[in-house]
Amino acid sequence: MRIDALLSRFGYCSRREVAQWLKRGRVTHLGEPVKAANEKAEPEDVLVDGAPVEFPRGLYVAFNKPLGCTCSHKEAGELVYDLLPAQWLRRNPVVNTVGRLDKDTSGLLLLTDDGAFEHAQTSPKRHVPKVYAFTTAAPVPGEAVALFASGEMMLQGERTPCLPAELVLTGACSGRLTLHEGRYHQVRRMLAAVGAPVETLERIEIGPLRLQDLNLQPGEWVEIDPAMFA
Ligand code: URA
Repeated sequence: MRIDALLSRFGYCSRREVAQWLKRGRVTHLGEPVKAANEKAEPEDVLVDGAPVEFPRGLYVAFNKPLGCTCSHKEAGELVYDLLPAQWLRRNPVVNTVGRLDKDTSGLLLLTDDGAFEHAQTSPKRHVPKVYAFTTAAPVPGEAVALFASGEMMLQGERTPCLPAELVLTGACSGRLTLHEGRYHQVRRMLAAVGAPVETLERIEIGPLRLQDLNLQPGEWVEIDPAMFA
């Protein structure tokens, strides 16, 4: 990869600024200062200001989304992206969330700059199980367990029934719901439809990843191996 392409790809500077960066000796390749923007290098062999290139083979991160921020690049109010290092947002391709969580939902969210990974994970064909822990403002009726599992539950405004979903009740007004698809506000709509509006909602698992094992406070992240989702 050319050094000028590398500096822009990984969010250091624009191609226009590369000459200045090289002139100041900020970039080394195998220990030698890089002089020419068209020099080719493996990202792993390059240091910028003495530090290795971050996520040289793509950014794959599990993030514990706090309540109150939105999974969008341009809505009003606090955005998930406001909580991430500025350099991630200058990467090109840009860093995106893999799917979305509502503003009022917390928990496990994947972030990546790999568009193919993002599309593969959000494809309706993949059915990656996602587990949500919830509390509700009214008791969840026991019949909801069979209804959600039936594959016949219709949500208002939808043309096809929800895929079978596993509901485990942990109290009168609390439980876990495992979904194999991701419709708009799906957990909230399913529970509201059985008379139990959601009060709190947290995503605690995506496929093989469990928030509990990752030891992340809200707003913290950890790099993940995308191969675990292959
Ligand atoms: N279902 C919801 O209702 N909200 C989310 O954020 C995710 C799933």
